[in-house]
Amino acid sequence: MKKLEQIYEGKAKKVFRTDDPEQFIVEYKDDATAFNGLKKGTILGKGAINNRMTNLLMQMLEKKGVPTHFVEELSDRETVVKKVTIVPLEVIIRNVSAGHFAERYGVEEGITFDEPTIEFSYKNDDLGDPLINAYHARALKLATREEIDTIVDLAFKVNEALKEFFLTVGIKLVDFKLEFGRTTDGTIILADEISPDTCRLWDKDTNEKLDKDRFRRDLGNVEGAYQEVMRRLMGEQA
Ligand code: TMP
Repeated sequence: MKKLEQIYEGKAKKVFRTDDPEQFIVEYKDDATAFNGLKKGTILGKGAINNRMTNLLMQMLEKKGVPTHFVEELSDRETVVKKVTIVPLEVIIRNVSAGHFAERYGVEEGITFDEPTIEFSYKNDDLGDPLINAYHARALKLATREEIDTIVDLAFKVNEALKEFFLTVGIKLVDFKLEFGRTTDGTIILADEISPDTCRLWDKDTNEKLDKDRFRRDLGNVEGAYQEVMRRLMGEQA
């Protein structure tokens, strides 16, 4: 597999073309941003942790019947993935109130919902990723009705699998963000990453935050939190 030219650079990852027209290589960076890029920093070792954690979780999800873009881990920070066009929706599932949900609706953080919620943001940095509903997404031709139905079903399935998996290592899955892609033949598959950058992960007993909120909110020990999640997940693997 040959790494050819870079075709995209996001806030936390780069994507490269390869000699296989159906496969890309993703490279994870240590760069961290928050508040739509307003806050910038580095989380040492984050790229390697997010790469390994995403791959571990995606392989687990594949076994549970969720199609993902994962193909093969190449190195610490690099993974071969299936080529997709990203559906420009951030799909957010919440099990417990936190973050924008708590702010937007004026409730405290930490309230466990009777059922998980789902919401979409329009992935558009210039607009600050505004919240949209499924009708708006269709009006904007971001996805078809069938694609949105598939995305919702898969997102809830991912939630059940991840919630259970994290709980076995003493972690409460508070909320997370997913992105989906279309393969060349139009199939919707899970893409992007699943990591402490894109999930809120709280210790089951102490509610200690083990995710990017430590960076967003200047809580300290950011690197330690990422390492702790990885240490627990790898322990589960052994
Ligand atoms: P929120 O409460 O800020 O809307 O975040 C919900 C979840 O989505 C949280 O686990 C963090 C994740 N997220 C991202 O992955 N990328 C983003 O740009 C934002 C705003 C949130």
